[in-house]
Amino acid sequence: MTNAKDMFTLANGVKIPCLGFGTWQTPDGEVAKNSVKCAIESGYRHIDTAAAYDNEGSVGEGIIASGIKRDELFVTTKHWVSERGYEKTIAACEASLKALKLDYLDLYLIHWPCVEKVTPEWKEINASTWKGFEKLYRDGKIKAIGVSNFLPHHLEVLNDFAEIKPMVNQIEFHPGYNQMETVKYCQDNGILVEGWSPLGCGAVLGDPTVNEIAAAHGKTAAHVCIRYALQHNVLPLPKSVTPSRIADNLNVFDFALTDAEMAKLDAMENIGCSGFFPDDAPAENYK
Ligand code: A2P
Repeated sequence: MTNAKDMFTLANGVKIPCLGFGTWQTPDGEVAKNSVKCAIESGYRHIDTAAAYDNEGSVGEGIIASGIKRDELFVTTKHWVSERGYEKTIAACEASLKALKLDYLDLYLIHWPCVEKVTPEWKEINASTWKGFEKLYRDGKIKAIGVSNFLPHHLEVLNDFAEIKPMVNQIEFHPGYNQMETVKYCQDNGILVEGWSPLGCGAVLGDPTVNEIAAAHGKTAAHVCIRYALQHNVLPLPKSVTPSRIADNLNVFDFALTDAEMAKLDAMENIGCSGFFPDDAPAENYK
């Protein structure tokens, strides 16, 4: 990879720009619009949002304001937990497309798995949501389909009934919380892993190990975190609303972490996850 426009290839052959722009916690309105426009102008070609971020409308406006041609951009959004089941899934996708002012999505993800703690029928519910995804995919509304925050046992269940396998799993991934078991499972099964909060929502940026490695390369802690994901073949989705940081987070293609540095980052103590753990703290408790 030599720049953010270089591509990973998904299992169905769809190409996906290797570094995306995250918008979780980006406020709706001018902030979201301007940061998306700024990201595209800075060189990002991959924008990641979600219905639950409540900013799809402004993200769509940012895309329009950038003047970029639709086919030069990769846009992902996610299906929220309140919209599970076949019919609601189809309607939720239509609503996201309308909010984004797009006529197709490059990637649509189930935001969180339905889990046993929510209902004993969690498997059937995930199956019926996934049927909706398959229908949208076959109808050409979506170029690729996947999931987010799925652990291997959630993916195993999906695999039992899926006619089309998920192409992506987007999980929290950063030094101090790399979920390597899930990463390995996905990569062994041809599922591209994307990393949300590659900077640990900023929490990793003060870490001494990360900063020591950054200093050795004359780079920042943010660069090390983004590079860490890329070198694990995990597609990072750093978020920022600050124009200088938006642009600077792309400067990760002029250095490489050594194997020893990667091992040090792998071995970092658990900095912890964002607080949502799919099985123990189902996402429906949070919105
Ligand atoms: P802001 O949006 O105010 O610029 P993550 O992508 O892991 O969720 O992290 C996002 C957080 O990290 C946000 O608080 C964002 O702040 C901050 N951030 C993003 N890029 C940088 C950077 N290059 N240096 C410092 N903080 C950053």
